[in-house]
Amino acid sequence: MNRNVDIVHNWMKENIKDDWITVDMTCGKGRDTLEMAKLAQHVTSIDIQEKALDQAKVLTQEYSNITYIHDDHTNINHYINDFINLVVFNLGYLPDGDKKIMTNSDSTLMALSKIYPWIRKNGYLIITCYLGHKGGKKEHDTVKMWIDHYKNFEVTVIDSGKRNSPITYICKKISLDSR
Ligand SMILES: C[S@@+](CC[C@H](N)C(=O)[O-])C[C@H]1O[C@@H](n2cnc3c(N)ncnc32)[C@H](O)[C@@H]1O
Repeated sequence: MNRNVDIVHNWMKENIKDDWITVDMTCGKGRDTLEMAKLAQHVTSIDIQEKALDQAKVLTQEYSNITYIHDDHTNINHYINDFINLVVFNLGYLPDGDKKIMTNSDSTLMALSKIYPWIRKNGYLIITCYLGHKGGKKEHDTVKMWIDHYKNFEVTVIDSGKRNSPITYICKKISLDSR
């Protein structure tokens, strides 16, 4: 467990309400999905790898408020039909999995653009970027540019400042001004 994951999970405990609709854009082993399922009304959780979803389903077997989707998150718009209170991206690759299957700057940018219009006013987008792996720095720069482009986010940054440690952006959508 890294420090940013702990901070995000504590943020979830303090902020998620029991009527919230949430989306985990990178299900992985399901640790973020589990925290959201404990607190929210519903979680939609997507991953490109079936292996990841299988692990997440075991971890979250006590919860019936999760819809799992096996697909590329750039297709998320095919599955969303309600406005969302919280969207989470935990970028990179599946720990202990195939390191060739990882998020990248192009697909992350497309996924952010697809999910953005569905985030409610005063809803949140939390993105954790990892700079240590190949393509991680480029992906982080793209995410940062995308966030900066939208003037309608209030942004909290979690960054220890240590070389290659993860950086998390907690973004609150303060208006519905959409592009
Ligand atoms: C760092 S892990 C996520 C960790 C997870 N949130 C957890 O709590 O265990 C990143 C995940 O993103 C998934 N992924 C990579 N590219 C993807 C894509 N284009 N669409 C959906 N999932 C993707 C990987 O398969 C991997 O499981």
